[in-house]
Amino acid sequence: MNVPVIGFSKLSKTEKVNWLVDSYFDGDTTVNNIITRYWNEDEKLQELHDGFSENTITNFYFPFGLAPNFLIDDKLVTIPMAIEESSVVAAASKAAKFWLDRGGFKTSIKSTIKSGQVHMMYDGLSSEMDAFYAFAKADFIQSIQSINASMKKRGGGLLDVELVNKTSSLKGYYQLHATFETKDAMGANFINTTLEQLATTLREKASEFEGFSTNVPEVIMSILSNYVPQCVVNVSVSCNIDEIGAINGVSGADFARKFTRAVDIATVEPYRAVTHNKGIMNGIDAVVIATGNDFRAIEAGVHAYAARDGQYRSLTRARVKDDVFTFEADFPLALGTVGGLTSLHPLSKLAMQVLGNPSAQDLMKVTAVCGLAQNFAALHSLVTTGIQAGHMKMHIVNMLEQIGASDAEKVALKKAFTDKTPSFSGLREALEKMRSK
Ligand code: MEV
Repeated sequence: MNVPVIGFSKLSKTEKVNWLVDSYFDGDTTVNNIITRYWNEDEKLQELHDGFSENTITNFYFPFGLAPNFLIDDKLVTIPMAIEESSVVAAASKAAKFWLDRGGFKTSIKSTIKSGQVHMMYDGLSSEMDAFYAFAKADFIQSIQSINASMKKRGGGLLDVELVNKTSSLKGYYQLHATFETKDAMGANFINTTLEQLATTLREKASEFEGFSTNVPEVIMSILSNYVPQCVVNVSVSCNIDEIGAINGVSGADFARKFTRAVDIATVEPYRAVTHNKGIMNGIDAVVIATGNDFRAIEAGVHAYAARDGQYRSLTRARVKDDVFTFEADFPLALGTVGGLTSLHPLSKLAMQVLGNPSAQDLMKVTAVCGLAQNFAALHSLVTTGIQAGHMKMHIVNMLEQIGASDAEKVALKKAFTDKTPSFSGLREALEKMRSK
């Protein structure tokens, strides 16, 4: 039935939808309705969204919510979050409230350097590559001056280029490793354009250089790195264990002890570390998406950072020392507040306004806070009540929808399950009972 479709991108949106409905749904027009129902009546807005990507047929909504009451470096912040998982915003808000009365979140930027590499192969002696690099270095820097100019005006630009010998990992492999400061931009285009110019200069200078005994170096590719171990924000919370108070029948001291143990476990055990860090990313991704940043880049960079010593570990750390409980993390977050979708998507723009149009560094701080808060909320539940009570309470709305409860039945069932952990079977049974009465 399915045959390759030629020139799909040139079809109009309606033609694309019709093709889909005919090819995959036997011309079922109800499918057509599902798709067109999500088209925005505001044609200009729809055009904007269609333009974000190729072959768009409709919009895919994500809930856009607010987590208020975050005290960050003594300033009250409301964090915009775009996420579909039902308990995440509630958990963030809960953590915000907990720390609001206990000094709030403290943040600091450790560094903001990004990097990119020109990856190349050379079969000859390493000493020849070293000599070539010394011969060409000034030209590398000179050749990117015009690309660098406007970033330099903003206080950023190319910081350095160095030749890295990687031949012990892969025969013949070298890099030009370039470092950058991109200020409020995420800087992907600037970095990639600069790297491609460096590669061009490298080819030109290599053809002039007379010291290669074999071939000239072959450029394989030039691309920024989403691994940003030098673009890092620190975030922490801290209070005396007496200030924690009893939590769900667990004393403050016991809570802090179990909490730090839970973090220790995620530090040594990858099975736990992945889920632990996934919870952190619930908070980080939600802010990254709401502010129009690239969550895949952030995800890749954060997970690589979590494995930087060769084992995948918890991103957070916790300790109790002299009766003071401290919980903190360093997160590598290369975020931008100008360029990309940040000012193009009306809701990202709104999210930025809610955050007071932050600098990239301020956005790193807020995002890190949301990650730490999310981890705090998850561990808070895990070491006391368990996760399901709160999680399912939030998820009950989805479950009631799925079992086909009416609005009145939803209200009644939510009330009936106030003190119970809802399950599909439990809810169905209760609904049947209600209907049979
Ligand atoms: C669920 O989205 C996230 C948690 O599993 C995180 C964790 O276990 O720490 C609750």
